[in-house]
Amino acid sequence: NWTTGNVIEEQVEAIRALVGDKRAICGLSGGVDSAVAAALVQKAIGSQLTCVYVDHGLMRKGETEQVEKDFVAATGVQLKVVDAEERFLKALAGVTDPEEKRKIIGREFIRVFEQAQAEIIADEGPAVEFLVQGTLYPDVVESGGGTGTANIKSHHNVGGLPEDLEFKLIEPLRKLFKDEVRMVGQELGLPEEIVQRQPFPGPGLGIRIVGEVTKERLDLLREADAIAREELTAAGLDRDIWQCPVVLLADVRSVGVQGDGRTYGHPIVLRPVSSEDAMTADWSRLPYDVLGRISTRITNEVRDVNRVVLDVTSKPPGTIEWE
Ligand code: XMP
Repeated sequence: NWTTGNVIEEQVEAIRALVGDKRAICGLSGGVDSAVAAALVQKAIGSQLTCVYVDHGLMRKGETEQVEKDFVAATGVQLKVVDAEERFLKALAGVTDPEEKRKIIGREFIRVFEQAQAEIIADEGPAVEFLVQGTLYPDVVESGGGTGTANIKSHHNVGGLPEDLEFKLIEPLRKLFKDEVRMVGQELGLPEEIVQRQPFPGPGLGIRIVGEVTKERLDLLREADAIAREELTAAGLDRDIWQCPVVLLADVRSVGVQGDGRTYGHPIVLRPVSSEDAMTADWSRLPYDVLGRISTRITNEVRDVNRVVLDVTSKPPGTIEWE
């Protein structure tokens, strides 16, 4: 019978047996999944694990700091931070196709990892043979890895791995749903802000800009996203919604008016959803006053945004993310 204690015990034993005296690396994304996977493996093999955090420049405001400070403080894990913003932006330049963006981000991610691996291997100590990933059950199913269903989107932590991958994978959360992962994280002593964090996609804000990804657009979206998150938290709604992607329609412009002047800016889409497991979702009926505050603040505070629109589509037929 299923308890978080059993899951942790089983996984810790299995991971110890598998890894032996070798070493493992784990990518931290800032999300719950990779954090819990890392904490679990850290519990099993301690200093044989090194975590790598790739700052791809597609993170939201404050996320890098949360990994660098809070997660390290909670777990004592060894962390290597790689600043790869320039590399990712260069690889994404001129690209607008969503699947192409995902493939590029997944590919660059693995390459940066392999570089980090090489650097870690160059240290003294046993071989680094294992890569830890926070793959969950729904990821496995949607990527066709579990049941043979069609690949809906190439989730980069399952389907987008290159052929010549040099690591053996450890995926300790492969049989779990999100709520179970949170329970395991809590049991492992991770702080509330990490355990209760809403899901955020690996490709980050890169798939929340409809159009080409540029530094300027990312900065703009980061501001809008931070405002939406702040207001949702202030209204006490974080636990009521599954997540609320904030999307920049970079290739769309609309006419507006501000003061005496005509504006010609971009729309921001709010996509609040309720869900149990992200396989299906419904749009969240957020209070109008909260939506109003978010809209007013975004249009006042974010340059080049003159319109905020609400996505009222369930999944299916829409997916949660726009790309
Ligand atoms: P969709 O858009 O497929 O999203 O309805 C379902 C859930 O998955 C998240 N998502 C991803 N997570 N890598 C991830 O780790 C990805 O490539 C990815 N794409 C979507 C999305 O935020 C939602 O929670």
